Amino acid sequence: MAAPAAQPPPKTVLRVAAISGSLRRASANTGLIRAAAEICGESIPGLHIDHVDISELPLLNTDLEAGGRFPPAVEAFRDKVRAADCFLFASPEYNYSISGPLKNALDWGSRPPNCWADRAAAMLSASGGSGGSRSQYHIRQVGVFLDIHFINRPEVFTKAHLPPRKFDADGNLIDSETKEQTNGGALLVRWTEQIVTNSKCESHILVDAP
Ligand SMILES: Cc1cc2nc3c(=O)[nH]c(=O)nc-3n(C[C@H](O)[C@H](O)[C@H](O)COP(=O)(O)O)c2cc1C
Repeated sequence: MAAPAAQPPPKTVLRVAAISGSLRRASANTGLIRAAAEICGESIPGLHIDHVDISELPLLNTDLEAGGRFPPAVEAFRDKVRAADCFLFASPEYNYSISGPLKNALDWGSRPPNCWADRAAAMLSASGGSGGSRSQYHIRQVGVFLDIHFINRPEVFTKAHLPPRKFDADGNLIDSETKEQTNGGALLVRWTEQIVTNSKCESHILVDAP
């Protein structure tokens, strides 16, 4: 009798929920997420970056929580956060701090039971003169209480409006140097390795390789 064919090794699929802190149609930060998703899809098998839209979330108001349930848009958002293995945040700096929409999303996800806990995260920002550094440090501070494990390096701060032109009129990343910084294969692979290292093994989804 022929020996059974060797089974291919299981393939790890890592699901990244990517959240943009800007609701603008031509947002540079949402453009960074699109660029990261595109390059990841090509260069890192098994890593899937999905943009989770936060524009439909109501402003946080705990009166909207009834009988242990949240408004439908919040329930849908919390489901996506819970289903993710790790997170990618791309957010502008507003007045030296976190954008209002992102803070709102972080707060909705934090309502008990906290949906963010014990997952790794990486961060990008496109902003004015600071490139968003101050907002990133405030996001990290919030992440301490939410139990999000932020990767420390590399730090990517994109000065969106300084020359050379980095984004087109639709917010697509067009600058090759920023592309290299933001999602040059090496950087994303490094993030991925750190995310895999920092994530709980059992939270990964193992599927049979085709
Ligand atoms: C209300 C407001 C406050 C801002 N404050 C800052 C700031 O403190 N630091 C900074 O670098 N840019 C600041 N900016 C500029 C934005 O971060 C910048 O325009 C960014 O590209 C917006 O992100 P988006 O293109 O993804 O919408 C501010 C913009 C707005 C609308």
